[in-house]
Amino acid sequence: MNHSIFTIQNLILIFFIFQGCHASREFHLQYVFYKNLIYNEKLFGKFLHITDLHVDPYYLESSDPISFCHRYSPNPILNIAGKFGILSTPCDTPFALSNSTFEFMRSNFEDIDFIIYTGDAVRHDRDKLFKRTEDQVLDGHRRLVEYIQQYFDLSKIKFMPSLGNNDEFEHNKLPKGPNDLFSNLSQIWAPLNLNLTTHFLNGGYYRQDIHNKFSVLNLNSMYFYKKNKLLEDCNITDSAGTLQLEWLERELKNARQEKRMVYISQHVPPVDDANEELYSPACFYKYVQLIGKYSDVICGHFTGHTDKDTLAFVTADEEKDKYSIFALNETHILSTIATNNVVLTLTNAPSVKPTHNPAIRLYEYSTTYRNFGVLKDYIQYFVNLTEANEIGEAIWRVEYIASRTYGMNALGARDWAMVLKEFQSPDSETWRLYVKHITVSGP
Ligand SMILES: *[C@@H]1O[C@H](CO)[C@@H](O)[C@H](O)[C@H]1NC(C)=O
Ligand SMILES: *[C@@H]1O[C@H](CO)[C@@H](O)[C@H](O)[C@H]1NC(C)=O
Ligand SMILES: *[C@@H]1O[C@H](CO)[C@@H](O)[C@H](O)[C@H]1NC(C)=O
Ligand SMILES: *[C@@H]1O[C@H](CO)[C@@H](O)[C@H](O)[C@H]1NC(C)=O
Ligand SMILES: *[C@@H]1O[C@H](CO)[C@@H](O)[C@H](O)[C@H]1NC(C)=O
Ligand SMILES: *[C@@H]1O[C@H](CO)[C@@H](O)[C@H](O)[C@H]1NC(C)=O
Repeated sequence: MNHSIFTIQNLILIFFIFQGCHASREFHLQYVFYKNLIYNEKLFGKFLHITDLHVDPYYLESSDPISFCHRYSPNPILNIAGKFGILSTPCDTPFALSNSTFEFMRSNFEDIDFIIYTGDAVRHDRDKLFKRTEDQVLDGHRRLVEYIQQYFDLSKIKFMPSLGNNDEFEHNKLPKGPNDLFSNLSQIWAPLNLNLTTHFLNGGYYRQDIHNKFSVLNLNSMYFYKKNKLLEDCNITDSAGTLQLEWLERELKNARQEKRMVYISQHVPPVDDANEELYSPACFYKYVQLIGKYSDVICGHFTGHTDKDTLAFVTADEEKDKYSIFALNETHILSTIATNNVVLTLTNAPSVKPTHNPAIRLYEYSTTYRNFGVLKDYIQYFVNLTEANEIGEAIWRVEYIASRTYGMNALGARDWAMVLKEFQSPDSETWRLYVKHITVSGP
C-alpha cells in the first residue's frame, strides 16, 4: 500500500478527522475509526462456541443403542447405531463425529481468536455394565486437550473450557475445592496456557483476559447446580456457591470500573427451556440479580447442557433493582413479557453429541476500541446426522445466520428486544424459525 500522506484515502481521513474533533481523546477515536474503515483494518473478530462433545471411545458402530452403543444385540434388527452416532438415544459421540467436527473447524475457522467450550467433554456414566473409572474421566479431559493441540495453533488461539456435570469422577458430584479434580485439571489443561490461579484450584473458575478491554469469566456452574447434592445453597456463608458469587461480583465491579466488557461462560444455564430453575434456590436468585445488575458490562452469556438452541432473557422488574429471567420454548408464552425491559440475553448452544443434529456456533464480535467484545452476529453450523450415516460422510452446513433469520444488526439487549416483539405474533416467520431451530431441525 502507498503510505504517502497525499493518497485519496488519507485525504478522506484527514477530512473526516477535521469534521468534528474537539477533545484529543475524541480525535484519537475518530482517527482509529476512520483509519479502520478506510484501510479495512480489523473491526471484527471471530470465535467459536462448542459444547457437550461427550466423546465415547467405546462407541461401537452398528451396535444396539439400548446398550448405550457399547454392545451388539443377537437380534441384528436392533443393531442400528450409525457411523456418526444415533439421534435421540442415550448413546454418546463416536470418534467419527468428533474427528469430523474438529476437521471442519480447522479447515474453515483458522482465523478465529478463541474458542469457548462450555463443558461435558467426557462420556456419560450411564452404562451399569461398564462404569466409568477415574482414569477414564481424566483420559476424557486429556483427549479434549489433545484434539485442540492437534487441530489448532494454541499460540494463536485461546481455548477456554468450563466444567460440565459429567466431567467429574462421579456424575453431578463436585465437592468444595481444593479437590483432586481441580489439581488434576490444572495439570491436564497446562498446554492451554490458561489463567488458572488459586481461584481455579479452590473453585474451578477463572478469568481469561482476551484484550485489556475484554475478559471471559469461565464459571463453575457445578457450584450453583441444584443436582450437586454435596454442597450447601448460596445463603450459607462460605458455601462453594457463595464464594463463587462473591468472586463474580468482584470481577464484575472491577470490569465496570475499568470499562472492560466480559462474557460469562459456563455449562449449566440458570433456567432450562422448560423454565425450570437449575440452580439451588438462593444461588439462582442471587445469580439472576447479579447478572441483571451488571448487565451493562456483560455482553455475552454462553451455556450448553440442555442440548437445545434456546434464548433466555433477564428483564428489569418495575420494582427497582429487581431482575427476573425467562427462557423461550416452543410453547408460546410471550404475551405478558415487557420486552422493553430486557437487559441481558443468554444464549444456550446445542451440543455436538447427537441428541439432536450436532451443531457448533461461530460468533462475530466487535474489536473497535469503544465496543470491544460486543456481539455482532452468529452462524450456526450443523450436520444432518441421518444423511451422514446414509452416505458415510458428515457434511457441515449453515443451519442459520442470526442477523438474517432474526433481522438483527447486532446481538445487544435492545436488538433482541425487537426480535421478542416479533416473537409475540405466533404466526411470524421468525417465531416459526426459532421453534424449528430449538432442536437443530435444519434451515
Ligand atoms: C480420529 O482421529 C484420530 C487422530 O487423528 C485417529 O487416530 C482415528 O483413527 C480417527 N478415528 C476415526 C473414526 O476417524
Ligand atoms: C490426580 O490427583 C490425585 C490426588 O491429588 C493424584 O494422586 C494423581 O496423581 C493426580 N493425577 C493426575 C493425572 O494429575
Ligand atoms: C487472571 O485472573 C486474575 C484474577 O481474576 C486477574 O486479575 C488477571 O488479570 C487475569 N489475567 C489474565 C491474563 O487473564
Ligand atoms: C415452556 O415454558 C412454560 C413457561 O415457563 C412452561 O409452563 C412450559 O411447560 C414449557 N413448555 C415446554 C414444552 O417445555
Ligand atoms: C437457605 O435456603 C434454603 C432453600 O434453599 C432454605 O431451606 C434454608 O432455610 C435457608 N437457610 C438459611 C440459613 O437462610
Ligand atoms: C436430513 O437427511 C434426510 C435423509 O437424507 C432427509 O430425509 C431430511 O429431510 C434431512 N433433514 C434436514 C433437516 O435437512
